[in-house]
Amino acid sequence: MAEIFAIAIDGPSGSGKSTAAKMIAKKLNITYVDTGAMYRAVGLYCRRKGIDTKDEASVVTVLDEINITFKVDGDTRRIMLNGEDVTDTIRTQDIGMAASDVGAIADVRKKLVKMQQMIAKEQSVVMDGRDIGTVVLKNAQIKIYLDATVEERTRRRIGELNEKGIISDFETIKKEIEERDYNDTHRKVTPLCKAEDAVYFVNDGMTVDETSDAIIKIVDERLGR
Ligand code: DC
Repeated sequence: MAEIFAIAIDGPSGSGKSTAAKMIAKKLNITYVDTGAMYRAVGLYCRRKGIDTKDEASVVTVLDEINITFKVDGDTRRIMLNGEDVTDTIRTQDIGMAASDVGAIADVRKKLVKMQQMIAKEQSVVMDGRDIGTVVLKNAQIKIYLDATVEERTRRRIGELNEKGIISDFETIKKEIEERDYNDTHRKVTPLCKAEDAVYFVNDGMTVDETSDAIIKIVDERLGR
């Protein structure tokens, strides 16, 4: 069997991590793990229960009620919350914010990090998030910190929302992205930051294909292929 390896991709929301990671997984035929989706699933559960996601004590009391699994469906992976497919439900700005809130809670991180480490133990993965290179997969062979300017990330987000038929205002979305950046980089527990040994990569103006190909080139160099 080929040697197991891991690609850790961190960066702020809208930097194109997930889309690039998905494409890399497909091209290299390895497993993609969307850790943001796991925090989003916890956020969704809390929202549905009417729990304030900023209230650590309340979130912690329901943590044991939350069971997150992945289900392979063709070449995509669906995220299941207590057996329900929530892959599409979690992709809203509001659930993104809830995810950012619950991600600031140490016990939530402990539970999800453990799951993520278990997945990476069994197979080669490309995993994206905020703490992958710094905490979850400290020994990953390849670490990337993917970034893009806030204006570029706002344009991308507006494009995504447009595709869903949602017309949005540039300044409002930009403010939401900046707020989430602030939340993610200023929280006490493992704030988003570049791992010392990560390659810093800005992908303004680049397509998903160009970004994933550039990362695969780094992977090939690191793995001596
Ligand atoms: O990547 P995303 O937008 O789906 O992530 C949603 C939120 O989840 C993000 O704002 C912060 C949190 N998150 C985290 O704290 N750690 C991760 N590894 C991934 C996401």
